[in-house]
Amino acid sequence: MSSSPEHRFFCIEGLDGCGKSTQINLLCEELGRRGFPTVRIREPGGTEISEKIRNIILSPAHGAMNFTTELLLYNAARAQLLNEVVRPALKQGKVVLADRFAWSSMAYQGYGRQLSLDTLRTVIDIAVEDLWPSHTFILDIPVEVFRDRAAKENRVADRLEQEKHDFFNRVRQGYQQIAKDFPEKCSLLDGTQCKIDIHKNILDSILAHITK
Ligand code: TYD
Repeated sequence: MSSSPEHRFFCIEGLDGCGKSTQINLLCEELGRRGFPTVRIREPGGTEISEKIRNIILSPAHGAMNFTTELLLYNAARAQLLNEVVRPALKQGKVVLADRFAWSSMAYQGYGRQLSLDTLRTVIDIAVEDLWPSHTFILDIPVEVFRDRAAKENRVADRLEQEKHDFFNRVRQGYQQIAKDFPEKCSLLDGTQCKIDIHKNILDSILAHITK
């Protein structure tokens, strides 16, 4: 799970609706203003092939999907995105900001679906190889906050969003456990804090990495 120091690859993680996109928007704007070319990606998706896989995974019509199939599909989309977009961008010295990464597979498929962590590691290692983000910021929110935000959006829930409260509780606890297990790679931040305070915190940490 090591990432070489030249990687300018960062990730924001957390439950659906925790504010990841808002933070990535703010970071892209600020890093761009400071002269760092920045590429943003989101998982699953980000390439033509990965977006097609995304549609298969998230379609509410695919309620029969086996959990192992789900894990493999997320990681198939990830392998494509890493090789088509992330590796070339990092080679060109760009900063890459990811809205989700393999930590999502650990939290959702590992803790949420309760697949074995050994299976998970095997599949994730195939997709990720050596390309772990330099650092990941996990925005922690109570499941109720996610539910309230989703209710306000008033749109059809995707297949994952249709899961029950217990599932999301396990995912949240999974993220908290990941932050404990990988303290050098992941920071757990209070996602209910003011968005500007969260932004400053993440920005300072990213700048410390990329100006090292
Ligand atoms: P998306 O609409 O991108 O949600 P969000 O805006 O919350 O990121 O949907 C992605 C969904 O897929 C989300 O519910 C999390 C889930 N997911 C996994 O279960 N495993 C994974 O490896 C990834 C990347 C996402």
